[in-house]
Amino acid sequence: MKRILTLFAVLALAVSAMADEGMWIPMLLGRNEADMQKAGMRITAKDIYDINNACLKDAIILFNQGCTGEFVSGQGLFLTNHHCGYSYITQHSTVEHDYLTNGFWATTHFEELPCPGLTATRLVRMEDVTAQVLEGVTAETPEAERNAIVESNIKKLKQRAENGTHYKAVIKPFYYGNQYFMYINEVFTDVRLVGAPPSNIGKFGGDTDNWMWPRHTGDFSMFRVYANQDNLPANYSRNNVPYKPLKFLEISLDGVEEGDFTFVFGYPGTTQRYVTSDAVQLAANIENPIRIDLRTIRLKHYNKAMNQSPAQRLKYASRVASIANGWKKWQGETQGINRLEGVAKKRQFEERFQQWANDKPQYYKVLPQLKEDYDYLRPIEVELTYFSEAVRASDFMNRANTYRQLANEEDEIKVAATSSKLKEETEKYFADFEQHTVVDRAIFIETFLYMWRAGYAPYLGAENVEAAAVEAKLAKIYDESMLNNKEKLLKFLDGYTVKSGKKLLKDPAVHLYDQAYNMAYDPQKISTYRQRYQDIQRLMRLYVKGMMEMQPDVNFFPDANLTLRVAYGHVEGFRPRDGVYYKPYSTLRGIMEKENPDIYDYVVEPKLKMLYSVKDFGPYGIEKTTYDTTWTDSANVTFFDISSKTTKDMPVGFIATNHTTGGNSGSPVLNADGRLIGINFDRCWEGTMSDLLFDPDYCRNICLDIRYCLFIIDKFAGAKYLVDEMTLVSSK
Ligand code: ARG
Ligand code: GLU
Repeated sequence: MKRILTLFAVLALAVSAMADEGMWIPMLLGRNEADMQKAGMRITAKDIYDINNACLKDAIILFNQGCTGEFVSGQGLFLTNHHCGYSYITQHSTVEHDYLTNGFWATTHFEELPCPGLTATRLVRMEDVTAQVLEGVTAETPEAERNAIVESNIKKLKQRAENGTHYKAVIKPFYYGNQYFMYINEVFTDVRLVGAPPSNIGKFGGDTDNWMWPRHTGDFSMFRVYANQDNLPANYSRNNVPYKPLKFLEISLDGVEEGDFTFVFGYPGTTQRYVTSDAVQLAANIENPIRIDLRTIRLKHYNKAMNQSPAQRLKYASRVASIANGWKKWQGETQGINRLEGVAKKRQFEERFQQWANDKPQYYKVLPQLKEDYDYLRPIEVELTYFSEAVRASDFMNRANTYRQLANEEDEIKVAATSSKLKEETEKYFADFEQHTVVDRAIFIETFLYMWRAGYAPYLGAENVEAAAVEAKLAKIYDESMLNNKEKLLKFLDGYTVKSGKKLLKDPAVHLYDQAYNMAYDPQKISTYRQRYQDIQRLMRLYVKGMMEMQPDVNFFPDANLTLRVAYGHVEGFRPRDGVYYKPYSTLRGIMEKENPDIYDYVVEPKLKMLYSVKDFGPYGIEKTTYDTTWTDSANVTFFDISSKTTKDMPVGFIATNHTTGGNSGSPVLNADGRLIGINFDRCWEGTMSDLLFDPDYCRNICLDIRYCLFIIDKFAGAKYLVDEMTLVSSK
């Protein structure tokens, strides 16, 4: 019996993708419908994507080119994350009106703030255009020629689709160019900021909690799309009116329970599900450790400075946020891949593939050739990783890069413009130089030393010497460069002409950067590097095609490419470590537990504390009644002790097994009826290897519970009029 079961389990694994894995194409969701309904969904694939009728996809927008948003009212009001709206909130903030710190709530349409440059893109329809894109291409067409044909076909197709319409067409490759889809979009350019909670709600937990569960971040902001009188996209104008979406999401107040079906509908950016073991090994075990170490160095110095004064904290906050974001994600990715034995698993699959391919002329060389390409590329990739994470770690070297470009510029007019711009920047740069230079100098020296130890001595012209001598040399470069001497630099820039370039290249900093750059980016090396990548594209196209032929019963999802996708799974806790179980939801109680007025990330607004202490959660809170004792008699009837206790709390976040990635930020999290229950905003770091390999035991997306969002808008900010625009549904 046992043996039969095991065999069955193995078979099941071979034919279906891992449970909960996948980012599916809305147009082809019919293929997943039965599985989704089996998992609990009560709507149909057509309710999600339908070319002839308004459907859920009409409520989803791509927010700029990197986040997702969803309409929640018939008046163009949409939700996204606070971290997605961040730069617009900052842009409108001044010392007098610090919306970032204090929050912002427009009380009338009149007060909503235009955000020039911000776009909201709605998918009108999509189409499979593989045959048209590949017209004129055969299996024998050389790669460069193929690329040219594809490019020209795409251009023609796009023109034809856009002609005479206000639509914008986008065509993207899927499965490494085995398939192409065209997206016909409507791009709205008048988008206004409507509301944002204060930072200590919208960014509660900051970078300390980033990628972590349990989480208590109220990561949302609100915008409104405006259109012209005909409800069509138009550039900002006072005469524009709120856009009337074909569909907006109803909001469920029912909340979530562990095991509930949920799906995420949005724009995931990039995944690499099908790459070979060598590619996984390179990313997870070679590049990530280098990046992590070098960023640890930078973060150590920035954090030290940030702990010294509020001014320093402010100065470095956003750069630390972005350095730390990747740093933490890669740690999870590497640990996750190794825990999963991802490289070995991929190797096993490759062996199977090779056996299958051995008698197939089209495929039998694919894997050996991919291996050869990776063997060739590996040292270059490592070197370029060092270049971006070490050489370019300090402001000092980034400035040296700017000055190197100036030194190599031969056009007098451009030189004049650049040098005068650099004079302005110099004034700004030196405004707080004294404070900054301590940090920047330390970062420069330590990251270069790290790289030197890793074997990049020629960059520094420091072979066969002791570390102490290298350190002294770096210090000397830092201290003697004109880039760190305001008077000297300004004077030099003052009389700058093309001829000054020679002298500039002799500055120790510019010289060092120039030397490292010329070694890392040697033109011939880079040109073969690019060719090899083109070859990998070609081989991956064959490899994925072969995989599909080899396993005809598997429904393969295409890697994320910033097109609209559906990911589905369940609300579910997980076991990150031995002896630890994470429940799938968090509540306001956890915010109070984390509260610490002395730690910036954990300051709690007095009003939030007040609402918590009087348990004034409006219709959004949860009530649980527990009984001191219960017992069940022999007839299986349960009795309750009369001394019951009712506790009230406010849900804040939850986690689920939806397969998401960067770009899914702001995506709606929907329940079995297609109603909004949350806003996606992160993943748990223990599962960030899901960009390469998904593990249902560890991969969780992190969502803001929509009830907390409504509570903040209504009870905290007193902006109930915004909630009144929405449609709330409760079955209780
Ligand atoms: N980790 C999330 C993402 O990848 C949120 C990043 C912004 N938040 C932060 N604390 N840095 O984008
Ligand atoms: N915070 C990410 C974003 O901005 C989502 C987290 C992830 O899944 O990578 O899209």
